[in-house]
Amino acid sequence: MEAILGQIEAYRKEIEAFEIGNAAQLEEYRIKYLGTKGIVKALFGEMRNVPTERKKEFGQVLNDFKQFAEGRYESARDTAGSSPAASASSIDLSLPGDPLPAGSRHPISLVRNRIIGIFQRLGFAVADGPEVEDDWHNFTALNLPENHPARDMQDTFYISQNPDWLLRTHTSNVQIREMEKGKLPIRIICPGRVYRNETISARAHCFFHQVEGLYIDEHVSFADLKQTLYFFVQELYGKDVKVRFRPSYFPFTEPSAEMDVSCFICGGPGCRVCKQTGWVEILGCGMVHPTVLENCGIDPAKYTGYAFGMGIERITMLQYGINDLRLFSENDVRFLRQFTGAV
Ligand code: DAH
Repeated sequence: MEAILGQIEAYRKEIEAFEIGNAAQLEEYRIKYLGTKGIVKALFGEMRNVPTERKKEFGQVLNDFKQFAEGRYESARDTAGSSPAASASSIDLSLPGDPLPAGSRHPISLVRNRIIGIFQRLGFAVADGPEVEDDWHNFTALNLPENHPARDMQDTFYISQNPDWLLRTHTSNVQIREMEKGKLPIRIICPGRVYRNETISARAHCFFHQVEGLYIDEHVSFADLKQTLYFFVQELYGKDVKVRFRPSYFPFTEPSAEMDVSCFICGGPGCRVCKQTGWVEILGCGMVHPTVLENCGIDPAKYTGYAFGMGIERITMLQYGINDLRLFSENDVRFLRQFTGAV
């Protein structure tokens, strides 16, 4: 017992004399005295060799010593730990940093940006509009008056505060808003989020994304529409792609058409993606209906225009072979990571 007390005294002297001038010495000190295999710990281990009647006394000496050793460490750390010498020896500035996971763009953003890029090169400007819209801009001005049967295909969500407000069902509201500004000619594309009251499944969701386009000027013809869209899909799918236009119906265009591209998976003979037809439908389009022009204060005798609209999800699903619409909004990183590095 006396021997150990003498030893502790000697350690105190040693600690007082221990030179701690930089972080390396500080660490050396910590390991020697305070580490898990250090002297303080070892001395506590001696407790079991001390006779019972002196355990209390020894315990006090030990605690004192421990505080002393820690006190020295703490005061040295405040000075040595932050000295230039310390940082020079403990931080290697030449080491590469810890890598940060880079993240990736969402596939919908990737495809939207590609679509926008193609039309921007043709001189289209990007236009934006509200997602909470009034009935006029989403329906009535687009030749879809109340009780028009075509409204059935675009059931949406209404805002209880005001029965005239709804979540837009397409980005065509932006077309109306641009035309109402009265500045002609107009050459815009409108990318954005749209909403529909649909039961959520692999093929439908209550929201999705569209890009619509509008070109209004004097002498704009259906031939302009065809050529522009043909250029667009060639940029998207390659020069060999073929297109076909099928007559269709939209209240806001006349004539209206649906555009198909030759299947970019099988190239024609038929496969699962094109449902054995060789063709894939990708957008709706047409010449802007004279009533729509009039609704926006544009003289249909002087101006004509074309419009088109496509769903970004659909094009993305076809492009990447994604078979469930819900994957886009579940934020599952196992899905999203697959697009890392894509631009
Ligand atoms: N607004 C249509 C829809 O959401 C898509 C569309 C079709 C837009 C033809 C157009 C167009 O501008 O001309 O179903």
